[in-house]
Amino acid sequence: MTTTALIVAAGKGERLGGGVPKQYRDLCGKPVLRWAAEALLRHPAVRNLCVAIGEGQQDRAASALQGLEATIVQGGAERADSVSAGLDRIEGEAVLVHDAARPFCPTDVIDRLLASLEFFDGAAPVLPVGDTLARGEATIDEPVDRAGLQRVQTPQAFRLAALKSAYASWSGSTPTDETTVLRAAGMKVAAVEGDPRLEKLTLPADFARAQQWLAGNSIPRTGMGFDVHAFAGTGPIMLGGISIEHDRGLKGHSDADVVLHAITDALLGAVALGDIGEHFPPSDARWKGAASHMFLSHVAELARGQGAIIDHVDCTVIAEAPKVGPHRDAMRLRIAEILGLRTDQVSLKATTTEGLGFTGRREGIAAQAVANVRMGATW
Ligand code: CTP
Ligand code: MG
Repeated sequence: MTTTALIVAAGKGERLGGGVPKQYRDLCGKPVLRWAAEALLRHPAVRNLCVAIGEGQQDRAASALQGLEATIVQGGAERADSVSAGLDRIEGEAVLVHDAARPFCPTDVIDRLLASLEFFDGAAPVLPVGDTLARGEATIDEPVDRAGLQRVQTPQAFRLAALKSAYASWSGSTPTDETTVLRAAGMKVAAVEGDPRLEKLTLPADFARAQQWLAGNSIPRTGMGFDVHAFAGTGPIMLGGISIEHDRGLKGHSDADVVLHAITDALLGAVALGDIGEHFPPSDARWKGAASHMFLSHVAELARGQGAIIDHVDCTVIAEAPKVGPHRDAMRLRIAEILGLRTDQVSLKATTTEGLGFTGRREGIAAQAVANVRMGATW
C-alpha cells in the first residue's frame, strides 16, 4: 500500500518549554522532528513525507529536514487543523499520522498498523494504563475505573479516503487524535500493541527520559587523525576552515588545511570508514585545490548515515607559527558550522615542539585530532 507519513509539527511546545518548540530541539545531535521523520521513512512502505509546520518555523523545519524529501505545509491553530492541512496535500492509499513530538518509532509498530488496514479503516498503537486513575486537581477525588481503558499513541494508520471523508463529516469540537474522528464517522479502528518508546515528549521530564534512552542504547567510539603539510611559497594559509595571514604558504593538493584534514580522518576513524586519502584521492583532479570544508562536511554526513551522533572533536595544531590563539574562536566556530555542532563541542589547541623536529625547524605544520561519536543510538 503506498503510504505517506504526515507529521504534525506546528505546535509551540509550551508545556515542555525551553525557548525552542520541542519538535525542533536538539536531542543528542538531531532535532526531535528529524528523529521522528527518519523513524517513519525507515519503513519500506513509507514513500512520501508531508510535514505541517507552524508560522515562522520555516527555517527551523528546513534545517531539521535537510536532505529529506518532504512536502511542507502550513499547519493550523489546533493539532487537528494541522492534520487537515496536511491531508489536503496528500494522495495515495494510506497515511500514517504522527506527532513530531514522538521521536522514536519502532518499525514493528508500523508493520502492525499497516497490516491492520487490510481489515480496518484505521489502526492505532495502544498501551494499557498502569497507574490508578482519579479525577481531581489538588486532591484525589473520584476514582476512575481503569478496566478497559487504553492509552492511544501515534503514528495512527488510515486508509486515506476513509480519513478524508471522516474529517469532512466531523462536526464536534477539536479532536485530539484521528481515531476519534474516524469512530465518529462510524468506522472501525483497530488497536495494535503500542510501544513505550513512542511516548510523546510533553513535559521536561519526558525530554530527559528520551536523552537517557539514547545514551543507554549507544556505543561510544573514538577516532584519531593526524596530518602534516609542508610550507612552500607565500601565505595566507587555510587553517581550521579560515584564512590566516602568514609569510609562508602550505603545500598540498587541496587547500592544505591540516586541521580540517586531521578532524576528517578522526571522524572516519570513529566510524571505521577508511581514511581521507581513500575518499578524496590526490590522484583525482576533482580535489585539486579543493576547499577542505567539503571533505569534512561530506565525511560528517557519511558518519551520520552510519547512525553516528558526533559528540565532540578535539584538535591540536603543532607549529612554531602562526600563532593559533588569536584565531582559535573563529576556527572553532567555523568547524562547528561545517560539522553542524555547537561551538562547545569543538576544541582547538596548539603547541610548539620547542624548536625540535620538522615543525621546530618551521618546515611545516602538523595537526592531530580526536573525534568522539556514539553509534547505534537508535533506541
Ligand atoms: N501540533 C500541531 N499543530 C498545532 C498543535 C500541535 O501540528 N496547532 C503538533 C505538535 O507539534 C506535536 C503534536 O501536534 O507534534 C502533539 O501536540 P502537543 O504535544 O500538544 O504539542 P504542542 O502543542 O507543541 O505542545 P504544548 O501543548 O505543550 O504547547
Ligand atoms: Mg498542544
